[in-house]
Amino acid sequence: MTLFRLEGKRALVTGGSKGIGLAAAHDLIRLGARVTVAARDEQTLRTAADAIGARWVVADVSTARGVAAAVEAAGETDILVSNAGGPPPAKPSEVGEEAWQAGYDTTFLSTVRLANAVLAGMRGRKWGRIIAVTSLTVGRPSPTLPVSNAMRAAVTNYLRTLALEVGSDGVTCNTVAPGYTATDRLKALNRTPADAEKLTARIPARRFGQPGEVAAAIAFLATNEAAYMTGQELLVDGGWSI
Ligand SMILES: NC(=O)c1ccc[n+]([C@@H]2O[C@H](COP(=O)([O-])OP(=O)(O)OC[C@H]3O[C@@H](n4cnc5c(N)ncnc54)[C@H](OP(=O)(O)O)[C@@H]3O)[C@@H](O)[C@H]2O)c1
Repeated sequence: MTLFRLEGKRALVTGGSKGIGLAAAHDLIRLGARVTVAARDEQTLRTAADAIGARWVVADVSTARGVAAAVEAAGETDILVSNAGGPPPAKPSEVGEEAWQAGYDTTFLSTVRLANAVLAGMRGRKWGRIIAVTSLTVGRPSPTLPVSNAMRAAVTNYLRTLALEVGSDGVTCNTVAPGYTATDRLKALNRTPADAEKLTARIPARRFGQPGEVAAAIAFLATNEAAYMTGQELLVDGGWSI
């Protein structure tokens, strides 16, 4: 028997033009799935999608309209990878209502809306994979990422709760929590080589992760072989959380 194949499955990967989302889309395609990627910047998205052989749709998942556009373009979706940009850093006591709302819309409500839009089809077909990209900060809050800490914890427990409802329909709901991964997001948060050095010294693997290393966990959770894993958080962090 061939392991880990996804022929005949259709996937939607949001935040799929760069970093972890793009690497996940590429892995799903390599396993045989038909993949649609969504993001806001058309030029970057189109170039990235063409390079890996994905379909693409310009969509902002922080809005109901953007979610609807992404789901419509993807068609019947067997695998949902809910992913987008992370909230900006701030002191917890200084986050304003607008920033809380933006984090809620982009990180939490996007996942709920996307899941709601694809769930009926998945349940009807008795097969589905809902995977959200969160962060190692869910269990270990970063002092400078209050919105991310809160919203990703919400996503995690939302999917754990949804897993209880839909498990008997062959739908699994999991999160993949990256540690420090070498993407544009990480570069934006750690501007100097000294910042990067300080961080890697504290990671047991002594390096940042690669987007493909997080993508591999996402791709595994999408396969038939992961059918008995649900409501779980899979950490990909080079041992940071130890
Ligand atoms: N890299 C790390 O070290 C790390 C660690 C822990 C957690 N994470 C989390 O993992 C996720 C992916 O991170 P990454 O490093 O791969 O980020 P990235 O390289 O900045 O890529 C983010 C992707 O999301 C898209 N995006 C952003 N906002 C969007 C929106 N509202 N609607 C649709 N697409 C949107 C971006 O394209 P457009 O801007 O064109 O829309 C891009 O394709 C983020 O939530 C991040 O916070 C990352």
